[in-house]
Amino acid sequence: MALSFTVEPAAGVEPARREAILAEPGFGQAFSDHMVTVVWQAAKGWHDAMLRPYGPLSLDPGTTVFHNGQAIFEGFKAYPQADGGVAMFRPDANAARFARSAERLALPALPAEDFVAAADLLVRTDLAWMPRGEEMSLYLRPFMFGTTVGLTVRPAADVTFVLIASPVGAYFASGPKPLSMWVSEKFSRAAPGGTGAAKFAGNYAGSLASVREAYDHGCDQVVFLDVVEHRWVEELGGMNLFFVFDDGTVVTPELTGTILEGVTRDSLITLARGQGFTVVERKVSIDEWRDGARTGRLTEVFACGTAAVITPIRQLRWAGGEVTMASGDIGPCSASLRSALLDIQYGRSADLNGWMHRVSLKDL
Ligand SMILES: Cc1ncc(COP(=O)(O)O)c(C=O)c1O
Repeated sequence: MALSFTVEPAAGVEPARREAILAEPGFGQAFSDHMVTVVWQAAKGWHDAMLRPYGPLSLDPGTTVFHNGQAIFEGFKAYPQADGGVAMFRPDANAARFARSAERLALPALPAEDFVAAADLLVRTDLAWMPRGEEMSLYLRPFMFGTTVGLTVRPAADVTFVLIASPVGAYFASGPKPLSMWVSEKFSRAAPGGTGAAKFAGNYAGSLASVREAYDHGCDQVVFLDVVEHRWVEELGGMNLFFVFDDGTVVTPELTGTILEGVTRDSLITLARGQGFTVVERKVSIDEWRDGARTGRLTEVFACGTAAVITPIRQLRWAGGEVTMASGDIGPCSASLRSALLDIQYGRSADLNGWMHRVSLKDL
C-alpha cells in the first residue's frame, strides 16, 4: 500500500532571505524549508513517512552508516515550465536506479510510487523555492542509509530515507565551460562485481583522491579507465561520456556493469537518434580518444549528467602528455543535443517521449 505522509509545517526562512538565495543559488548550497523522512525496519517495512521542517538529523555515534558506509543517493530536478507549471524529468528512472542501488547495497527498495510521491509532495510544498531564472531548477536529493546501532558488519535492520531539495543555478554560470580531464593511472573507480553501477556514496568517497590528483595537475575532473586492462574509457566521477566522430557517428561507452547508467546518457541516445545521428554504444579506448583528438577524426567530446546537462571536454592530460581538441568551444552536435534536452525539460518543446512528470499545483 502507498505510504501516507504526516505533515509538520516549517516556519521557513524569511521571504527576503529566500529571494536573495534564489537570485544566485549556486549548486547544492541552500536547501528548501522542508524535507521528507521515511523509516524502514526489517519487521515493519516502510513507515513513519513525514514531511517535516528541514533540519539536522540526530544519530547515535554507533550508527552503522558511520562505520560501514551503507548509503546510497539519487539526483534529479524539477523545472519551471514555460506555461507556468512545474515538472520533474524522469523521476521514475531515478526511482528505478535507486531501487537497483538499494539491492546492490543490501538496503530495502523504496517503491517507485512512494519515491515519486515524496518528490511531488516536497516540490509542491516548497514551490516558493523554485528559482525562475535561465537554466535554474530545484534539485532533488533522495538518500538512504543504515541506522542500526552496532558495529557488526551486516545489512542494517533499520534504515532511513531522506529527501531534500536545493535551488540550483546553471552549473557553469557563464555557459558550459570546456573542461580539461586528468587520466587517472593510479586509481580506479569501479571493478567488475563491485559497486560502480550503483549510486553508492562510497564510490564518490573513493574517487576524491583522484579528483585531488586532477586538481594538482591543473585539470577539472578525472577520466576513469577500466580496472582490468587500464585501457577502456568508462566515465568521470559524476558524469557519463560521449564522443562525436567526423563521420557523424556518436559513440558512448557501453554499459559494462562498472559504469553508472546515467538518465541523461539514456535520454541523449534517444535525442541523438531522433536528430539523425548514428549512435553506437561500444568500448572506447584511451588511445582512440588521444589519436582521434590529434588527427581530428574525433570532433567533439562531452560529459553529461543531471547537474551540468552537457559539458564539452577540450583537453586530456596524463602523466607525461596532453592533447587538446581543435575547437575550444562547444561543438554543433553537443550544442544541439543540449538545447533539445533543455527545451524538453523547461517545457519549451513537445515531450514526445513522455519524460516529464507534472507536479500537481491544484489547491495550493
Ligand atoms: C558516476 C556518475 N556517472 C554518471 C552520472 C550521470 O547520471 P545522470 O545523468 O542520471 O545524472 C552521475 C550522476 O548521477 C554519476 O554520479
